[in-house]
Amino acid sequence: MTKLSIPIAALSFVAVVSAAHADPQKLAEEKQCLICHSVDNKIGRATGFKTIAQKYSGKADAEANLVQMIKKGGVGHWGYVPMPPAGWKRPDVSEAEAKELVDWILALH
Ligand code: HEC
Repeated sequence: MTKLSIPIAALSFVAVVSAAHADPQKLAEEKQCLICHSVDNKIGRATGFKTIAQKYSGKADAEANLVQMIKKGGVGHWGYVPMPPAGWKRPDVSEAEAKELVDWILALH
């Protein structure tokens, strides 16, 4: 039995690391953000994340505002096409996940 406990501890460590999402772009894929947004503006349904980063990076309240936008959706910042709230026809996004996504997006510029 004691022999077994070491591999199990190693496995749960791997699980914790992957839950922290070392790769935010993967998180964006999992949350289906990239259905509408591209990272570098290659597809057109919603503004690319690089352009969004250029508009907001360095602005003091950008992180908090964009976290709210990701959770609740919104319209009118880029045009008349609305962004639906998280959890509507796609995976829900926690506050921590939204923060991680925003920090990644804002660093893209
Ligand atoms: C169904 C299409 C769609 C999906 C899916 C989507 N978005 Fe959006 N997103 C939009 C549209 C459209 C806008 C522009 C809305 C506007 O003009 O206010 C937008 C705007 C944004 C903005 C800029 C907000 C602002 O205030 O300027 C951010 C940041 C963003 N999205 C992040 C995300 C993230 C992160 C995800 C995944 C969790 C995601 N989006 C999923 C369509 C989408």
